[in-house]
Amino acid sequence: MGFPADFLWGGATAANQCEGAWDVDGKGMSASDAMTAGTLTDPRYTTYVDQDGKPGKAVMFEDLPEGARRAVFEEYYYPYHDGIDFYHKYKEDIALFAEMGFKIFRMSISWARIFPKGIEKEPNRAGLEFYRRVFEELKKRDIEPLVTIFHYDLPLYLEEELGGWVNRDLIDLYEKYARVLFQEYKGLVKYWLTFNEINGPLMIRHFAPKESGPKIRSVFQQLHHQFVASARVVRAAHEIDPGMQVGCMLAGGATYPLTCDPDDVLAAQKRQQEDFYYCGDTMARGEYPHFAKRFWNAFDAEPDITEQDRIDLKEGTVDLFTFSYYSSSCATANDKAEKAKGNFTMGAKNPYLEYSEWGWSIDGKGLRYLLNELYARYQLPLMVVENGLGAVDVVEKDGAIHDPYRIAYIQEHITAMKEAIEDGVDLRAYTYWGCIDLVSASTGEMKKRYGFIYVDKNNDGSGSFNRYKKDSFYWYKKVIASNGEV
Ligand code: BG6
Repeated sequence: MGFPADFLWGGATAANQCEGAWDVDGKGMSASDAMTAGTLTDPRYTTYVDQDGKPGKAVMFEDLPEGARRAVFEEYYYPYHDGIDFYHKYKEDIALFAEMGFKIFRMSISWARIFPKGIEKEPNRAGLEFYRRVFEELKKRDIEPLVTIFHYDLPLYLEEELGGWVNRDLIDLYEKYARVLFQEYKGLVKYWLTFNEINGPLMIRHFAPKESGPKIRSVFQQLHHQFVASARVVRAAHEIDPGMQVGCMLAGGATYPLTCDPDDVLAAQKRQQEDFYYCGDTMARGEYPHFAKRFWNAFDAEPDITEQDRIDLKEGTVDLFTFSYYSSSCATANDKAEKAKGNFTMGAKNPYLEYSEWGWSIDGKGLRYLLNELYARYQLPLMVVENGLGAVDVVEKDGAIHDPYRIAYIQEHITAMKEAIEDGVDLRAYTYWGCIDLVSASTGEMKKRYGFIYVDKNNDGSGSFNRYKKDSFYWYKKVIASNGEV
């Protein structure tokens, strides 16, 4: 019992949050390159010039004014421009991952490094060569790559000139991009994920309920195009290399009813269906779930679905079901209940749980619960591809970084995974999020650190970018060496 001998322990990152080198070796600009740094209290902005050429900024997730174009200005700091400089330090970083004993490393490819605008006939060789060097370095160290094809960084041209995912043409462009990757890295990469946290955009219903009407309409259409793109790419991968395994990736979380009031129970069920199973079912079962129609009707927003789309969805169901898990949330029909934060999973505050400095609940048992739910529903191999604690770390005078809070958090989640495996769940991998400190996606800061490896970089971009081992580094090494028995 316990973790199987071939369990894949490792860590996870994303291109724009760690690579830096945003305009190097022919990389095009990504939409996220125009995002400034924020903090827990100050939002991140997207900077732009409006149609009269006047500079402006919009809070992250807000629409830009009609006709505005993203632009970068000297007076702002854009944390993705230098990230943690993984682009130049990848050998050093991979050596540290190997020292911990990583079996797997999840990373993403920046589309704009391969196709700078997204529409070129030929890919950018320099971009392809960069990832080849990274994969070869991983291979040298016996670390299996797990590659996300799209992790929140669309080439700017596709966003602004083609209108982003609401435009059906992106399906073909994405398929073309993915086919290049499969051909190029056949033999080097076996595991692929099509879209990071594909269900994320659905959560705008919770962020800004009043505005969600018109926006959610376009989200349904965008998601539909992504489902079809993903399915076509699953098929392409199998065609190019039958040994490749392709997974979906969803933002996960357990959703509990706040009380045993039947209205709360129904609210929790509805939330889990709409936030999670809507995407999960479509990608794993190849068709929209039974509740989709009612969900669309609530927003008067049924997406356009062609007959060929339905065939593609059926033929391109995923081989693996992967998800992120940071915390759980509570649903209730009582709108006066105290609210909580979370990685999308905002809901009512759970009186039984502790909360992190950034207000996300800490709930290992929720992971066991979710793993059981997912395995019962899909009967597919599962991978936890993100889980972690963002916290403020202090470097002591002697250079040590003591992070017992992180160790406790992971320990709780390892116990939960072990229990789930003993429950009978087929769990194959755990890639801890932000195994090396990187730029936070939601706040754009460095202060919210997840890593086993400390990166000397501050919120304003200053610092040596040197790497240091935290206590959790040595501890995770023992976790892997003992196959989760610490
Ligand atoms: C997930 C994303 O939502 O959560 C990551 O896939 C992100 O890109 C992670 O970094 C943690 O969120 P944050 O905001 O703490 O960086």
